[in-house]
Amino acid sequence: MNTPTKLSLHPAWTIDTVSPLIFGGFLEHMGRAVYQGVYDPDSSQADEFGVRQDVIAALQELQMTIMRYPGGNFASGYHWRDGVGPKQARPTVRELAWQSIEPNQFGTDEFLHLCQRVGWEPMLCANLGTGTPEEARDWVEYCNAPMGTRWTNLRADNGNPEPYGVKYWCLGNEMDGPWQLGHVPADHYAIRAQQAAKMMKDCDPGVSLIACGSCNIDLPSYLEWDRVVLEHLGGLGHYVSLHRYARNDSDDPADFLAMGKSIDDQIEGLDALCKYVAAKQRRRRRAYLCFDEWNVWYKAGLPQGIGGGVFAPPLIEEVYNLEDALVVASFLMSFIRHADSVKIANLAQVVNVIAPLLTRGDDLLKQSIFYAFEMVSKRKAGTAMRVSVQGGELHSPGYGVCDEVDCAAILDAGARQLHLFAMNRNTTRDIDLHVELLGQELREVSSEILTGTDLKAANGFEDRDVIRSQPAQLWQNQAMKLPAHSFAATTFDIA
Ligand code: AHR
Repeated sequence: MNTPTKLSLHPAWTIDTVSPLIFGGFLEHMGRAVYQGVYDPDSSQADEFGVRQDVIAALQELQMTIMRYPGGNFASGYHWRDGVGPKQARPTVRELAWQSIEPNQFGTDEFLHLCQRVGWEPMLCANLGTGTPEEARDWVEYCNAPMGTRWTNLRADNGNPEPYGVKYWCLGNEMDGPWQLGHVPADHYAIRAQQAAKMMKDCDPGVSLIACGSCNIDLPSYLEWDRVVLEHLGGLGHYVSLHRYARNDSDDPADFLAMGKSIDDQIEGLDALCKYVAAKQRRRRRAYLCFDEWNVWYKAGLPQGIGGGVFAPPLIEEVYNLEDALVVASFLMSFIRHADSVKIANLAQVVNVIAPLLTRGDDLLKQSIFYAFEMVSKRKAGTAMRVSVQGGELHSPGYGVCDEVDCAAILDAGARQLHLFAMNRNTTRDIDLHVELLGQELREVSSEILTGTDLKAANGFEDRDVIRSQPAQLWQNQAMKLPAHSFAATTFDIA
C-alpha cells in the first residue's frame, strides 16, 4: 500500500532554540588530519601560515561554528607545552594513542589563530589521561589570562599578548574506554575531573566545562559512569559528552537508515540522567549534552600497530557512500529534535580521518557526507519544532518500529521561514509527503535533495560528483514526492 506521510506543525509546538554549536567539527592530531589535512606548509594550497586554503574554504561552506582540538585519544597523551614556542625548538615525540610520530609543528597558537581567522569557537580538550589537573589549569592560564604571569608571559613571548578567551574545555576524552591512555574507573576519573575543573574555573570563571560521559553504549559502565561523574562534579559539570559512531556491519540498509531512532534513545537516556542528578542534588541547572564525536565509521578499521611509528600515517580514511550520508542527516535531525538537551555537537572529524573531506597531494575531494551536513547547517537558525508524523512505519531488526519518514523542522520566526528536513528511510518506494503549518501558506524558497540509485555509490578523485546534493524545486501545494532512500532540505517562506 502506498501510504502518504503528513507532517503537521504548529507555531506553538516548539522545543527550544537550535544551538548553533551543534554544527561543530573535530580536528585531532591523528593520521593525516592536521598534517597533510589542515596544515601543510609544502602544499601549493598553503597560505602564509601553512594552512591549506582549499580545505578551509570547503569547511567554511559547511558553516561549522565550533572546533574541538587536539583529540580524541591523542589528547590523553598530549602535553600542550610541547606545541608552543619557536617551531624549531619544539620536541618531536612518540605519540602513543595512534603509534605515530608527532613533531608539534601545529599547536595551541596555530590552532587558536586559525579559529580566529575562520570564525570557529575553539573547544580545547585537556589531557586528563596522562596529564595532571594542574597542567590543564596552566593551559587555561596560557590561553585566557591577562599578561603578567608565568604562562601568560610565555604566550606573549610567543607573539600573542592578548588572551584568546577559550570558553569550552573538555575534561579529558573517552576516559571510560579501556583503550584510553590513563583510563581509570569512574570514581577515579570523577575525582581527577573535579580537581581539574575547580582549578580551571578558579583560573577563569568564564570557562564552560565538558565532563567525559559514556563514549559507547555497549560498554558495561554505560550511564552508570555518567551518574558517578555528574554526581561528583555537581555544578562544575556544565556539559557531559557522548559519542557515537554509526555502523552498518550487517549491511542491511533498512536497518542502517533506522539508526536515528537509536540516536534519539541515546540522547534521551543521558538527558534523563542529567535531570535525575540535578533533581537529586536540588540544583536548578542541569548538565547539557555535548555530542562531541559523532559520525559513521565502520569500514576503515585501525591496523594492528596502528600508525606504525611514522609521521602522519593514513588512518581511518573512510570512504562515504549515499547511505552513510543519509545516516549523517539522521544524526543532525536527531540533534534538532533534542534542541532542549543537545547544545554542542562535533562531527568527527573534518579532513582525511573519517571526514567529509579528503586530500590527495594538492587535490581535495568532497565526500557524500559533506552535502548532508551542508544542507542542514545552512538552515540552522531558529527554534526546533515538534513534528507530528502520520504515515507509514518500518520494522527495523535493530531498532524496532519507526516512521518511514525521519524528519525535523526549524522555525525562524524573525525571518518568517520554516526549514524542513525529511529523509525517506524506505529503500524501495517513493513517498508522497505533505506538510502543514496551522493552515498557513508555505512557499518554497530553496530546496536540495540528496539521493541516487545506488546506496553504495561514493565520490572518488576520478569521479567527484557521483553523490552530491542537487538544488531542486520539490514542492507543489505543500506536497512532494520524496524518492526512496533520499534526504531533502527545504526553506519555506511563511506567507
Ligand atoms: O575520532 C577517532 C577516535 O575515536 C577519537 O580519537 C576517539 O576519541 C574515538 O574513539
